[in-house]
Amino acid sequence: MSEAAPVPLEPLYALSDEALVTRIEAAKKSLGDSCVILGHHYQREEVYQFADLTGDSLKLSRLAQQRPNARYIVFCGVHFMAEVADILSSPDQTAILPDLAAGCSMADMADLPAVEEAWKALGTVIDVENTVTPVTYVNSTADLKAFCGEHGGTVCTSSNAQLVLEWAFSQREKTLFFPDQHLGRNTGYLMDIPLEQMVVYKPSEPMGGLTEQQIKQAKIILWDGYCSVHQMFLPEHVDYYREKYPGIKVIVHPESALEVCQKADAQGSTELIQKMVRESPSGSQWAVGTEFNLVNRLNHEMPDKDIFYLCPTICMCSTMFRIDLQHLCWTLENLVAGHIVNPITVPERETALAKTALERMLAIM
Ligand code: 13P
Ligand code: SF4
Repeated sequence: MSEAAPVPLEPLYALSDEALVTRIEAAKKSLGDSCVILGHHYQREEVYQFADLTGDSLKLSRLAQQRPNARYIVFCGVHFMAEVADILSSPDQTAILPDLAAGCSMADMADLPAVEEAWKALGTVIDVENTVTPVTYVNSTADLKAFCGEHGGTVCTSSNAQLVLEWAFSQREKTLFFPDQHLGRNTGYLMDIPLEQMVVYKPSEPMGGLTEQQIKQAKIILWDGYCSVHQMFLPEHVDYYREKYPGIKVIVHPESALEVCQKADAQGSTELIQKMVRESPSGSQWAVGTEFNLVNRLNHEMPDKDIFYLCPTICMCSTMFRIDLQHLCWTLENLVAGHIVNPITVPERETALAKTALERMLAIM
């Protein structure tokens, strides 16, 4: 790489959006195929427009693998997504997260020491290694994916959770599912697993707050984690739209509570939500329960449909929102100048085990 001076971030905040757009376009052009920009559907519009490839977590995991010529994978998403890109890409590719503060509050609700502690505690009641398959939602840190890789488990996303759980039960009779209790419960419910056999493990309490009997009877042991954005959607929001717009369709992300998903017409990943709304006939009415930027985009894209945000207050993924034009410009211009800012590098051993878990998931699909 060349030796031009690094580009500082702060002065970019003095520029107008138009100036930043012009500079990003120029940097992108100069980088050509050596750089691919991936954009999650929750990204703010001004950033999303620069994504070469967009998708939900599963689609982006796969796309990250399919650009071997791109030396730099600039991930406009959150930290765990860039980690997955790093794990699945080749060693000569570098995954970059434009702002390291773009984390996922749900992913932060489970960490390796707590999960290891839970595994140990459960192991005093049941034979965990032979009866429990650990499954982590992709919204988790790489070391938890590695934990699953090491203990015969795997990863799931919101678009393949049922297939993954079916696989998990074909391996062992129980599943420890983390960090999102709602995705685990919603998926188990669709698989006709009785609610009393889906217990919540609270990491702050001895034995997760569960009795021996509850642990022995459980099919799915759900981690006590949730998404603060999706927990804002309530059953009464669905009732409100149904009453006001008879015939309206309600679609929600499965990170929403069971009571909300049960009242909805459909639930699915961000990719599925977009697809169903896009493929509906002109004049359709939808109430959509997922992050605001996605719903807003659909609304602008399809003026021939009535697309409402399910919650009366705007729920945005504040961490995803950290990626702005300034950080994207800063990242790209530094690459042009020969400097890699914010590389995401998962340690080697973790990468190998996490890759095992991710590859098990990709083989299930
Ligand atoms: P998707 O996999 O559906 O894109 O969801 C990711 C996510 O973080 C939703 O909150
Ligand atoms: Fe994480 Fe929720 Fe943001 Fe998705 S919407 S990235 S689960 S905090």
